Amino acid sequence: MSRDYRFPDGFLWGAATSAHQIEGSPLADGAGPSIWERFSHTPGRIENGDTGDIATDHYHRFSSDVELMHELGLTSYRFSIAWARILPEGTGRVNAAGLAFYDRLVDKLLSKNITPMVTLYHWDLPAALDDRGGWLNRDIADWFAEYAQVAFRALDDRVPRWVTLNEPWVVMDGGYLNGVLAPGHQELSEVPHVTHNLLRAHGAAVQAYRAEGKHEIGLVVNLEPKYPASQSPEDASATRRADAYMNRQYLDPVFRGEYPAELSEMFGSAWPEFPASDWPLIQTPFDFLGINYYSRSVTQDAPGELPLRATRVKQSQHVHTEMDWEVFPAALTRVLLWVKERYGALPLYITENGAAFFDPPFATDGQVEDPLRVWYLREHLRAAYDAIRQGVELRGYYAWSLLDNFEWSYGYAKRFGIVHVNFDTLERTPKASARFYSEVIRSHGAALAGE
Ligand code: FCB
Repeated sequence: MSRDYRFPDGFLWGAATSAHQIEGSPLADGAGPSIWERFSHTPGRIENGDTGDIATDHYHRFSSDVELMHELGLTSYRFSIAWARILPEGTGRVNAAGLAFYDRLVDKLLSKNITPMVTLYHWDLPAALDDRGGWLNRDIADWFAEYAQVAFRALDDRVPRWVTLNEPWVVMDGGYLNGVLAPGHQELSEVPHVTHNLLRAHGAAVQAYRAEGKHEIGLVVNLEPKYPASQSPEDASATRRADAYMNRQYLDPVFRGEYPAELSEMFGSAWPEFPASDWPLIQTPFDFLGINYYSRSVTQDAPGELPLRATRVKQSQHVHTEMDWEVFPAALTRVLLWVKERYGALPLYITENGAAFFDPPFATDGQVEDPLRVWYLREHLRAAYDAIRQGVELRGYYAWSLLDNFEWSYGYAKRFGIVHVNFDTLERTPKASARFYSEVIRSHGAALAGE
């Protein structure tokens, strides 16, 4: 049955990136080091010894990259600012040359009618602030608000949509519990403090925006719906714990003013009582929520797996990406409906969605065929449309990612781009998925019908 997939007028069709993953030249023009610059130069941390020193060299090629976005028909672009480019020590002195880069990027986007969405924090904390305790230091709420204010004053006249934090859960889980991401801690007792300070920093930046800004500001979370592996009560409880940890840990506080009860069940006395006076800050109202969706997870009780006492059961009969993430588009519709039902009807964006599948290191005859990524995008855009049909106020979609890039601890081994990057020559080649996405954009979604 073929269906009509015409998306609402004004729907934003975008692609997303982040500073450290694409820019390269992390120390250029007076920038300070970030925790990612430091982490990637620590032996053994990144696959293949890769670093973000060159990445896609977007720092020097941003202008032609924006031309490429225009050719693809993108109407919006989500990127992040590297905090240490504009405040090399994290606070205090502003580095005008660093700010000028983002100024030029925004102007270039606007000249092509591409609406910027700017993320303030996509994981690259200034190393100078990590030396002062980073996300463990309560002062970080003030540091972040100070940085945000500099960015707002410089760019809010041209940037209609801001994001405070990208995926606070990953900042905490990867950076402080599992240690696979910078700064690489593995310390259970740090988790609640990092979470709480991320939430306070988010609130402080929203408050700074209300004083300075004229447009919209929101938060971006990664959501991964949890499905029980069986109908047993044990698996049901494990699924609730996993859901609380990953999906409600940040949203319950900002929208409902409390942490999910399962967190103290999992962390015990490591989850302290925080000062009641922090809650108004955390609950500062904001304008939209961005959801990064990649996969779901089927969950089983696992008493030995601390702190969650839950584990993922791989559904090996389904397709998995190069990240070993199960492809499950229906969970995208489900999670959008769940957010609306649980947290109310605020405007939503899908701020990241995409897949790493194998692509060769170079293009052949100027082509990169990536049929699995085409399929992934088509099915997830259809799933997003289903949510709109069911009343979700979804205002835009951002493919992750515009370019193949530095995929954190995987280095360059995982390609997420709709545009291929040859990491020897830095040449860009739109993949078949980029051409497909272009058709979808030009047809307002109609090209999703059929097949
Ligand atoms: C998300 C991150 C993004 C990228 C994708 C694959 O968690 O926000 O930077 O790593 O996953």
